[in-house]
Amino acid sequence: MNTNEHGASIRLEGCTKTFADGTLALHPLDLSVQAGETLVLLGPSGCGKTTTLRLIAGLEFPDDGGRILFDDEDVTHTPIEKRNVGMVFQSYALFPNMTVAENVGYGLKVQKVKAAEIKSRVGEMLEMMELGALAHRRIDQLSGGQRQRVALARAIITSPRVLLLDEPLTALGAILRDRLRADINNLLRRLGITAIYVTHDQDEAMALGDRIVVMDHGRVSQIGTPKEIYFAPQNDFLISSTPFAA
Ligand SMILES: Nc1ncnc2c1ncn2[C@@H]1O[C@H](COP(=O)(O)OP(=O)(O)O)[C@@H](O)[C@H]1O
Ligand SMILES: [Mg+2]
Repeated sequence: MNTNEHGASIRLEGCTKTFADGTLALHPLDLSVQAGETLVLLGPSGCGKTTTLRLIAGLEFPDDGGRILFDDEDVTHTPIEKRNVGMVFQSYALFPNMTVAENVGYGLKVQKVKAAEIKSRVGEMLEMMELGALAHRRIDQLSGGQRQRVALARAIITSPRVLLLDEPLTALGAILRDRLRADINNLLRRLGITAIYVTHDQDEAMALGDRIVVMDHGRVSQIGTPKEIYFAPQNDFLISSTPFAA
């Protein structure tokens, strides 16, 4: 795997999102993510985090006038399969009828990579994610933490331009959550990939983000580094309780 690749920079310009039933989920949103940066979207349930992520993925499209750019290329109307994004969800969304190795290799198969190359790249990826011993297990034979590692491996094996993570740790118990949070942190630093990480958990945001975007009712209420947000929170949602090593 190419670990020198840094992924795309991303820009959202004036992205409003109104759903078919009239719900205004996002007020005109402007957002920039640097290549290689981990940007965390933090805010309470319903504030528009998932909607923002789905716009970036190409699973939703902004209202007229909104634009989304990857490395200055306008992808506003580009469908998800042409955007080269990797996604990880709270619910894992793995294929239950495939083994671990088949799940991880799926994206390469879609790209029509040769079987021998798939085998070797999947093998490397499973080693890296400490899943080597589980290659032939079915998904229902795995713990929650193992499933989420498989989901991560599946998302990054195709070297996507952008990795999108939507509350990937929320379904896990506390011990697994801490362990996997550390693993994700290491992985994002090591890959240098552009990542957007959605969470409602302030500690998680502080631990993972190069910068944090605090969202409130479909608007950005604050953008800053974890320290800036911690020492000068501008939203009641934020509580100054995270012990922060100065
Ligand atoms: N498909 C949809 N149709 C109508 N309203 C939606 C749809 N998806 C999300 N919403 C609404 O948009 C707002 C933002 O939702 P969402 O982006 O999922 O928030 P978050 O991920 O921060 O919890 C909420 O009010 C939600 O109910
Ligand atoms: Mg959500």
